[in-house]
Amino acid sequence: MTGELSPIDKAKFVAAKRAVDYVEDGMRVGLGTGSTAAWMVRCLGDLVRNNGLKIRGVPTSTRTADLAREVGIDVISLDEAKWLDLTIDGADEFDSELNLIKGGGGALLQEKIVATASDQMIVITDAAKEVGTLGAFPLPVEVIPFGWQTTRALIEELLVSLDVMGRDVTLRMNGDHAFVTDEGNHILDLHLDRIGNARQVAMVLNQIPGIVENGLFIDICDIVVIGHGDGRVEMRDINEGTVNHDRLEFAETDNLFKDMTD
Ligand code: 5RP
Repeated sequence: MTGELSPIDKAKFVAAKRAVDYVEDGMRVGLGTGSTAAWMVRCLGDLVRNNGLKIRGVPTSTRTADLAREVGIDVISLDEAKWLDLTIDGADEFDSELNLIKGGGGALLQEKIVATASDQMIVITDAAKEVGTLGAFPLPVEVIPFGWQTTRALIEELLVSLDVMGRDVTLRMNGDHAFVTDEGNHILDLHLDRIGNARQVAMVLNQIPGIVENGLFIDICDIVVIGHGDGRVEMRDINEGTVNHDRLEFAETDNLFKDMTD
């Protein structure tokens, strides 16, 4: 990534930069997936290389693992870490209770396992992802390839009885082929438009055989760090009930981020 960043990239960058302030020496840190999380991994790598920060990172996808190693973070598996101090990840949508839709990047399964195995989850985001009611972003659901069309039919049948607005279910594609996750599964995107009871939807979806996990993260996120293109950052802590504000000076750090592709 070279030259002037777009306002949205600046927002993602300042959210990521502010969130790494929560990381302390010796921590085991869950590393999210996606373009915002990639900024965070870069920022952490910078602290490791230039400030001597000592952490171990558990990535939530092969692409985050590759990036983390590239920037000098000591990468370990979740089984090696057993439990994490903190996970920092992006999201596709968040509401006022910090419930989330995740999985736009197809990594929701590892992301949910890692975030759930953490003392704290911080979501980094730009302001556009805040919604009154979850559901405008299609809800990703990871399904095993065996009998996926039957699984889709069962989902469509279930949706009739749920408080949602849309009911289209589409197989996520990667060019001409079905998208394949790191675990070798497929993703069904549920175009619900509005999810009236996200807690219920999250629970009942996982009762359908063939569904591995869904992208609703309920009661998992503790803090959201919201970045703005002008450098303002807002930190909302759902447990403390606090809202704090900060402003970061934005320097065009193209030596740090010049080859970013995620
Ligand atoms: C990947 C995710 C991402 O966190 C989510 O899609 C947000 O991505 P981005 O930061 O690129 O907007 O859930 O599975």
